[in-house]
Amino acid sequence: MRLLIVGGLSGQIGAATKIAMDRGAKVTHASDTEQAIATLRSGHGADLVLCDVTQDIGTLVRGLAAERICTPVVACGIGTDARKAVDAIRAGAKEYLPLPPDPELIAAVLAAVADESHQMIYEDEAMEAVITLADQVASSEASILVTGESGTGKEVLARYVHRKSQRAERAFISVNCAAIPENLLESELFGHEKGAFTGAVARRIGKFEEANGGTLLLDEISEMDARLQAKLLRAIQEREIDRVGGTKPVKVDIRIIATSNRDLAEAVKHGTFREDLLYRLNVVNLRLPALRERPKDILALARHFARKYAESNGVPFRAISPPTERLLAAHAWRGNVRELENTVHRAVLLAVGNEIGPEAIRLPDGTQVGGATFAGAQGLEGPVRTAVEQATAVTRGLVGRTVADVERDLILDTLDHCLGNRTHAANILGISIRTLRNKLREYAQSGLAVPPPGEHRMAG
Ligand SMILES: Nc1ncnc2c1ncn2[C@@H]1O[C@H](COP(=O)(O)OP(=O)(O)OP(=O)(O)O)[C@@H](O)[C@H]1O
Ligand SMILES: [Mg+2]
Repeated sequence: MRLLIVGGLSGQIGAATKIAMDRGAKVTHASDTEQAIATLRSGHGADLVLCDVTQDIGTLVRGLAAERICTPVVACGIGTDARKAVDAIRAGAKEYLPLPPDPELIAAVLAAVADESHQMIYEDEAMEAVITLADQVASSEASILVTGESGTGKEVLARYVHRKSQRAERAFISVNCAAIPENLLESELFGHEKGAFTGAVARRIGKFEEANGGTLLLDEISEMDARLQAKLLRAIQEREIDRVGGTKPVKVDIRIIATSNRDLAEAVKHGTFREDLLYRLNVVNLRLPALRERPKDILALARHFARKYAESNGVPFRAISPPTERLLAAHAWRGNVRELENTVHRAVLLAVGNEIGPEAIRLPDGTQVGGATFAGAQGLEGPVRTAVEQATAVTRGLVGRTVADVERDLILDTLDHCLGNRTHAANILGISIRTLRNKLREYAQSGLAVPPPGEHRMAG
């Protein structure tokens, strides 16, 4: 986690910096917004900008947008002055942090922007096989394609490969190709020269150069358009890149790891992904099994998350009771490790008594898990029947509404559930991110409130 702090380092912001550093963030400092933009364009990237409210946040946010730099800005200032907080958010800050700093709040913001714990937990043989292969290929320079359903741990595995590689001490830079608007992605990856477009007031170093000597993770690569695919292919083949508006190529030495939760061979057949690029990326394929295909991992991960979230929330550790373990083991986990992680996190907060009991295992809306989700469990006719009855009631409640109406509610509720994350919502809905974007544009144009984009909406 790299944090860029903008503004006076004295007093409370200094204290906030110290807390962030204690939590493992790498902190750089800029005295004003101009210096902040200069730092970001120079290739010393940051995952988050923490800006003193007394600075001109509007100028900073507009400056970053004009130069196509996609780093979230969080404002911070003394006290919970609602006026200042509102102004900062209006100016484009994602969040407002009141000072003096609350260590827990800072930790939550840091955690929301970049989950620093990239520990790889596994016990199942199916996963052991993947790790063995990852260990074998980590030290080579081969490009790797990590595939698997959403939430199976593709990013965790990519970081694992980097840590085990000869580039471990160098940068690991990740770019989510689906989260960055199409027209900004080229600059983000390859950088640009001064004057390349209106707003390009200075040279900006892209992620390829930032990752020089290290590893570049191209997350959700299937979302890259045809022109960028061609440019990427050239970068891999020639080991050099062209900045947007640049006149001479720049040498880069990087190892590429790409991820996709869509079948790229299928995409090649449909003509949306270049076959030659797929061959270049897919020198080695690490395929992560779905969580339901590695049952032993369910409990190993659940125990890990129970400990982790008790600690991070400052609540006493409770073991997962045996009936709860049976419940977890029998669930289908369509959202894979991410869904399990969120469920256990909720359970840690909801549990009372000595252990985490089945009643603490809830869906995001608070209803208890069980019933129909006890797939394969025995002697559960009662709950199963209730669930089927509930499901029938749900569809009956929809009679009289149009398909378009129901679709809109489903899309917006899912997006809300994913904290605005388009990629995850599209995965859950089983539609392409482009279809989702088009629908959202339609809804926004008709005056509906659409949750803002961005990888994460931060806790506050
Ligand atoms: N083996 C693991 N051990 C510990 N945590 C894991 C493991 N696998 C996944 N996680 C956790 O589950 C969550 C999802 O993992 P990750 O982001 O790597 O999935 P993904 O496959 O990239 O998902 P998506 O396709 O939605 O981007 C993260 O919070 C991650 O820390
Ligand atoms: Mg991912």
